[in-house]
Amino acid sequence: MTVESPCPPTESPAWTPPGVYEPQYDTWLLTRALHREKVTPGTDVLDLGTGTGALALEAARLGARVTAVDISRRAVLAARVNALLSGQSIRVRRGDLTSAVPGHRFDLVISNPPYVPSPRHGTARGAARAWDAGWDGRLLLDRICGAAATHLRPHGVLLVVHSALCGVEDTLARLSEAGLSAAVTDRALVPFGRVLRSRLAWLRQRGLPTDDMVEELVVVRAVRA
Ligand SMILES: C[S@@+](CC[C@H](N)C(=O)[O-])C[C@H]1O[C@@H](n2cnc3c(N)ncnc32)[C@H](O)[C@@H]1O
Repeated sequence: MTVESPCPPTESPAWTPPGVYEPQYDTWLLTRALHREKVTPGTDVLDLGTGTGALALEAARLGARVTAVDISRRAVLAARVNALLSGQSIRVRRGDLTSAVPGHRFDLVISNPPYVPSPRHGTARGAARAWDAGWDGRLLLDRICGAAATHLRPHGVLLVVHSALCGVEDTLARLSEAGLSAAVTDRALVPFGRVLRSRLAWLRQRGLPTDDMVEELVVVRAVRA
């Protein structure tokens, strides 16, 4: 299991417009996990919440046929421009998670979804839509766990990254309920970013660990039987 801090791959997308999530530790940790998968030219990959397209383009570089989805118009534009800049061909769709790919099944689904616990209830707006995910941080994660089996081929794999602050056991339990066999494959301790630092008092009130100002990121790998 990987525990050291992740760093960026050599090939990164060139353009992150304002309001689009800048690839960072979680992106890089998931990139590392992606590189361990058997990706061949026939592999169909779905990237949910693609942002700049960093992960989608990495999968394309490995030879996969990639569909990338994001709810943000700016992210869709960024992913398309970055595909052009890097000379990779990917399909980019705007939509709410898997509603953008109804009826499609994939060999590999990857996602770095919004997972930051937020004092604001409900769906986030504006730039915060890239990280805020409701009171417990699980607004998108639970939906991804629930939809994974429907969108994976038999023996297909889901790779999802998130903070331990929103409950690793919850993710494993949800995936197991959905009929997938799931385990944590990567862990990394990273410093609190700007958003978590601005929520220290609220996180403490909720009893979440903040003393060391670091969070643990995990990659969960789940396989459809
Ligand atoms: C943490 S960012 C990750 C971006 C990129 N995959 C990366 O690793 O750098 C999460 C992304 O999910 C997108 N997103 C948020 N809610 C979504 C939804 N309901 N459906 C699709 N994408 C969504 C955001 O716009 C944002 O681009």
